[in-house]
Amino acid sequence: MEALVEIMATGVCHTDAVMLEGQNPKASFPAVLGHEGAGIVRAIGAEVRELDVGDHVIPLYGSECRTCPNCTSGRTNLCWGIRETREKGLMPDGGRRFSVGDEAIYHFMGTSTFSNFTVVPEIALAKIRADAPLDKVCLLGCGVTTGIGAAINDGGVRPGDTVAVFGLGAVGLSAIQGARIAGAAKIIGVDINNQKKAIAKTLGATDFVNPTKIDGRTVECILDMTSGGVDIALECTGNIDVMRQSLECCHVGWGTCVLMGVEGRDQELSLPPVLVRYGRTLKGSYFGGVRGRSGLPKYVDWYMDGKIEIDALISHVMPIEEINTAFDLMRSGESIRTVITF
Ligand code: NAI
Ligand code: ZN
Repeated sequence: MEALVEIMATGVCHTDAVMLEGQNPKASFPAVLGHEGAGIVRAIGAEVRELDVGDHVIPLYGSECRTCPNCTSGRTNLCWGIRETREKGLMPDGGRRFSVGDEAIYHFMGTSTFSNFTVVPEIALAKIRADAPLDKVCLLGCGVTTGIGAAINDGGVRPGDTVAVFGLGAVGLSAIQGARIAGAAKIIGVDINNQKKAIAKTLGATDFVNPTKIDGRTVECILDMTSGGVDIALECTGNIDVMRQSLECCHVGWGTCVLMGVEGRDQELSLPPVLVRYGRTLKGSYFGGVRGRSGLPKYVDWYMDGKIEIDALISHVMPIEEINTAFDLMRSGESIRTVITF
């Protein structure tokens, strides 16, 4: 039920850095990291039903088995068909497909795209059209889909809405695009890095707030700008203080705050219940609420039709040998996304 995929390109996401730094409590090492890739199927197992050699695919850290209780609920994109083994860095049969000499190496997020070749179960591969450039649409394997989907699906942004997006990495910038596509009238980008302002505006932000320039008075500032709060807040930093601020920026009675950021190890979010008792909604989003196998091809079409921007998010391209530079550029805030090519 597995396919051998030749990875042609992969993005480097913040979640890889969280893992690399040991902040992920479920980490198993040594592992091949990477989860934002695209490639070509080079071999298939006997039980593979819907894929063929030569198919272009995006590996999915969120599988879509279509048979588990979550998939059949029709209410979530969180498939738990192979979750237990995936979280342990194993394939569904408990084995591993990577090794160095006699030592087996763990998989990561079921994708392990920082590798020329990887093995992925069929239920975790989205087949995409063959004319889409893999060194661009690889970003649909995580960050871009997460941001756009969270705005449209989980945030439910409506025409005319006021939206605030916290943290303008690839995820946040994509959330801005999602809000724009959904018809938001005012989109406030929030980031401590002033260099994000220009690209945020290109992608649809109407305003930019830098918390460091206003003594951290982000909430007051946004409430002032919006006559009482935003309709939808989209958090894309992973910082728990920012998560709380995002909720506080929501309009009483209906404002919805969607958390995307991945918190550091053992961190907890605290808030007075009154923040939600007065009608605000706090929710989270995983992969933008998108079911990978059935939902991703549409995002690829959107990119090919010019409806969504990916190229502008790719600030650097480099070969796999220089991947540690990609992590340095991410930590220093110089890059938006680095795409690694093989
Ligand atoms: P990134 O590191 O590229 O971008 C984060 C941005 O937040 C940077 O521009 C940074 O300057 C800004 N920032 C940091 N502290 C801030 C603060 N206090 N106030 C305002 N802005 C601040 O990260 P990326 O790749 O865009 O990911 C964002 C978050 O989403 C990460 O926590 C990542 O782990 C998570 N993530 C979640 C997914 C999901 O399915 N829910 C999928 C992909 C990523
Ligand atoms: Zn499932």
